[in-house]
Formats: sequence, C-alpha cells, structure tokens
Amino acid sequence: MATQCGEIISDAVPDHPLLNGRKEIGRGENTIVLDGDAVDGQERVFKILSSPTDYAYYTAPDRPTGRHFPTVYADHGTVGRSSRGFPFHIVEVEKLYPLPQRGDAAELATKISSSYFDACMTWRNFAHDMGRIALHHLVVTPMDWTEAIQESLKALETFSSDYDALPDLIKADNLMMRKDGTLVFSDPVFME
Ligand SMILES: Nc1ncnc2c1ncn2[C@@H]1O[C@H](COP(=O)(O)OP(=O)(O)O)[C@@H](O)[C@H]1O
Ligand SMILES: [Mg+2]
Repeated sequence: MATQCGEIISDAVPDHPLLNGRKEIGRGENTIVLDGDAVDGQERVFKILSSPTDYAYYTAPDRPTGRHFPTVYADHGTVGRSSRGFPFHIVEVEKLYPLPQRGDAAELATKISSSYFDACMTWRNFAHDMGRIALHHLVVTPMDWTEAIQESLKALETFSSDYDALPDLIKADNLMMRKDGTLVFSDPVFME
C-alpha cells in the first residue's frame, strides 16, 4: 500500500518564542502539533511541519481551500531542521478534533477511506501511481458524495498531481473534524 509507514518523529520541540511552554497535543511521522490560543473564540494550534509536501498543503497559494480543508491563520517561518532532513516550518492552523466512533462525520470518513482503499486494490498494478489513480477513481465514479466533498476530492487530486504528492486517505487520524461536526482533510497527502 502506498501509505506512509515510517516512525513517529522523535525530535524535541524546537526552541522558539512562539512554541516554548506550549502543550504538545499531537505527533505524526513528520509533524508535531502544539496547542495554541483561542482568538475571537476560534481555537488554534501550531503545526511544526517537516515535510515539504505538508508545508505546501498548508501554505501554497493554490492549496485546496473550502469547507472541508483546514483554515490556516499564519505562516510563522522556519526554525532549525528536523531529523527528516528538512527545515521545520511553523504554521498556525485551526484546532481540529479526532473523529468520534459514530455520527455523520465518522460515517463519511469511513466511506471515503474504504472507497479509497477499494480503489487502491482495483488499481494496485499501477504500483507507484496507484494512490493518485485511486483518488481519480473516487472523483469520477458516482458515489453519492455531496457537492462539497466531490469538489474537495477533485481539489486534492489537482494538488497531488501539481505537487507530486501521494494521497493518504486511509489512516484514520488524517481525517479530523471541527467542533460542529464538519469533516476536514487534515493531513491527506504525503511526500512522494
Ligand atoms: N489541526 C489540528 N488540531 C489538533 N490536532 C491536530 C491537528 N492536526 C493534527 N493534529 C494531531 O496531530 C497528529 C499529527 O498530525 P498530522 O498532520 O497527521 O501529521 P503527520 O504529517 O506527521 O502525519 C494527528 O494525528 C492529530 O492527532
Ligand atoms: Mg498524519
């Protein structure tokens, strides 16, 4: 399967005035997430990104935006270099929540992940290109997506091909939600 299977990044939180003293609330293969402040009632986090693909996903001028994509408040520049070999970028993003066991967002996430997984199986002989072809399959096959989800999948497909990113819609924690229950593609791509 073309999903990331690396280890969780073990780097210390870099020393930076914006980061010092903040609580760590998440960590993945490439990213450390620290709790931020609430501004005008909207909670924020600091994502410390070491993957150039994730940095592009959060900051590129043509990054996917809209209802199902994370709101980005600020790009705070770089601090040091991660053990992954890339600079750490600090990006301030809306705070998201893990999907609950049940409910509309969880059902939608399961449908996206399982349809994507099935499409990967169908197109597995394409090896390296399997994930992007599977995502394309989701975009062009009628599956009763809402218009917003359909457009989001299309936007992810465009981003993946423009930035040589590979989709990762299988790992549960890459899809998250807002407090109001909206599904958000939090970390749907990784570096080729
Ligand atoms: N916007 C967010 N708000 C709160 N927690 C988050 C947010 N984004 C990510 N997380 C948490 O941090 C973990 C790692 O983030 P993720 O973006 O998936 O990084 P990676 O690229 O390393 O997989 C996630 O699994 C999730 O638990
Ligand atoms: Mg992730």
